Amino acid sequence: MSVLSFHEVSVRYGAHTVLNGVSLEVPAGRTVGLVGESGCGKSTLARAAVGLAPVTGGHILLDGRPVPNRGRRPVQMVFQDPYSSLDPRMTVGESIAEALPERLPKKARQAEIARLLALVHLDAARAGDLPGRLSGGQRQRVALARALAARPEVILADEITSALDVSVQGAVLNLIRDMRRDLGLSMLFISHDLAVVRYVADHVAVLHDGEIVEQGPTARVLGDPRHDYTRHLLAAALPLKEQT
Ligand SMILES: Nc1ncnc2c1ncn2[C@@H]1O[C@H](COP(=O)(O)OP(=O)(O)O)[C@@H](O)[C@H]1O
Ligand SMILES: [Mg+2]
Repeated sequence: MSVLSFHEVSVRYGAHTVLNGVSLEVPAGRTVGLVGESGCGKSTLARAAVGLAPVTGGHILLDGRPVPNRGRRPVQMVFQDPYSSLDPRMTVGESIAEALPERLPKKARQAEIARLLALVHLDAARAGDLPGRLSGGQRQRVALARALAARPEVILADEITSALDVSVQGAVLNLIRDMRRDLGLSMLFISHDLAVVRYVADHVAVLHDGEIVEQGPTARVLGDPRHDYTRHLLAAALPLKEQT
């Protein structure tokens, strides 16, 4: 199990400071929720950890060392949109095989694909399907299997249930909880949806305009918020909950 830590991380695009001195730790085997309104910099923080956004200040460490971004990548990102994250011309099995860290003989490869599909609760027979035959929830499971293929220590899940029907969101969230328990993964779980974060995260950090304004145990932060912005987020979420 591994610890991912952000130390005073800043990201600037030209004159635009997107993240300003963000410090956050994802402890070994725990799930940390990152919440905040659209545009506050959530995705940028995750992207910075995998070398997809320019870190202009501070540093990001995995078990105290820079995050490797070549060869086997122990930090894997899963994105919001399962429709664009899978190549429509590749079968599920081919997509997963492509993400394996080493080339395996055919038999071993098929066994590994079946193992990964089982981890995300999909039938091994799905390996022969093109993504077009799968539902959004099934595609997101395949995207998770692809991420797991690299045998990661840390998963950065960026709004992975936001594009799914409410009816399948719960199943994907349960899968996330199982993955943490069974694989000992550390996870940064990004969502603008506080109800979803409340369900999966042990600890939550609130990002506002590129800065963390509050963080702590999920029940404390969402149950007894100390910062006005957290209260504002909770108040904004409340009417939605009452409607449903
Ligand atoms: N590649 C980029 N170039 C310039 N600005 C960017 C880039 N990526 C993100 N931004 C800006 O950074 C801010 C935060 O974006 P993002 O991290 O996607 O927010 P969130 O995921 O919280 O909605 C936005 O203002 C966005 O326009
Ligand atoms: Mg985002």
